Amino acid sequence: MRRDSYALFSPTRIGTLTLPNRLVRSATWDPSILKQRSMTDEVVQVYQRVAEGGVGTIVTGDFSVLPEDFLDHAERSFSYDDVRISGYSRLPEVVHRTAPGCRILSQLSAEYPGVGPSDIPSPFTTDSIRTLSSEDIRRIVECFVEVISCIRHEGFDGVQLHAAHGGMLSRFLSPYSNRRDDHYGGSVGNRVRIIREIVAAARERVGDWPILIKINGTDYLEGGIDAGSLPALAAEVERCGVDAIEVSGGMWECLVRSEAELGFRPVPAPESHTRIARPDQQSYFLPLVQRLNLRVPIILVGGNRDVERLEEIVRQGKVALISLCRPLISEPDLPRRWLEGRGSSGTDCISCNSCLYDMYTDLEAGQPGVARCVYKHDRARVKTAQRWLSQWVSQNVVGNR
Ligand SMILES: Cc1cc2nc3c(=O)[nH]c(=O)nc-3n(C[C@H](O)[C@H](O)[C@H](O)COP(=O)(O)O)c2cc1C
Repeated sequence: MRRDSYALFSPTRIGTLTLPNRLVRSATWDPSILKQRSMTDEVVQVYQRVAEGGVGTIVTGDFSVLPEDFLDHAERSFSYDDVRISGYSRLPEVVHRTAPGCRILSQLSAEYPGVGPSDIPSPFTTDSIRTLSSEDIRRIVECFVEVISCIRHEGFDGVQLHAAHGGMLSRFLSPYSNRRDDHYGGSVGNRVRIIREIVAAARERVGDWPILIKINGTDYLEGGIDAGSLPALAAEVERCGVDAIEVSGGMWECLVRSEAELGFRPVPAPESHTRIARPDQQSYFLPLVQRLNLRVPIILVGGNRDVERLEEIVRQGKVALISLCRPLISEPDLPRRWLEGRGSSGTDCISCNSCLYDMYTDLEAGQPGVARCVYKHDRARVKTAQRWLSQWVSQNVVGNR
């Protein structure tokens, strides 16, 4: 039975943008272009397949707006050419050509080694972290603004600020990782200040062009963002003038905790839970989102796996859009299959995270590629991948070594 009448397949808006349906491909890292800062045919094909598959909006994998020599040349003025991905505009070109209504947003982060809002050790090293000065923060804001205005000219439909999963922006938002006593730390308004400054300065350059954000609804860390503090945080983020908020969760640090404490198996990546076969294990950030009272659209990510359940969630009205990552690695044409009523109401993705295994091992071997579904294409390797995922946590997260 076709599902044309489903709310999931009805158009909606994010700010000035009309979206053809409620399904979003959530950000999925493209290591090959990040490593080489150059677009590859392999990556372009991934975006083409996802656009053909009927998703309404695609968020790219994140890339850092900070140039490699960002902190070494304090006086140097920053230019987009320092971080430009040559051929990046091929992504909006292919998406718009393949599926004219489909939208594509560029995800922007501020990753940079050895620095942070406070000297809270990285989960991967015992080295101390240099605390960013107000001048450094001012320059980070400038970098975002420069990149946002250039990305607009590359043909993208908007940007998403990556402020989840323990990256730089998320470390400002979280009271666990932000212990500053200046006006960038302490109160929720201060922790959100960097976002407010980025959005306000970007608005002067790009007007009402869409700026979205992805935040953590929970860090799974004592003293971090949690269900209780999320509503005030999300309301403050909304006041910054973003057009939509995607709610995710988890930081690398949380992997020092046990499965019993976390309520999920501690494997990379903590935002991508494994073992979510049962319906009550799916859409695992929904209880957090249900606590929010926002005017901007809320995007729900994490374990969304069954079209009937997702339809019910969207009809309830709190969630405007549903984001999918691993299911679209496994089945890029899933939205079309669901719409046409072919096969089951679920997905082929078993949420085993073996896609991450391939991604990381390719990267370690110096051959960064794109995320692939190991379960579907090479089932014999899933066991090896599972072993590797568990070992990765004990070998790489400092508190576990
Ligand atoms: C291979 C892979 C790459 C990812 N890359 C990113 C990324 O670049 N930025 C981001 O915000 N999240 C990233 N994520 C997290 C996903 O966007 C998503 O939040 C998470 O996987 C949960 O959704 P799912 O259950 O639909 O997979 C990635 C996840 C996977 C598995």
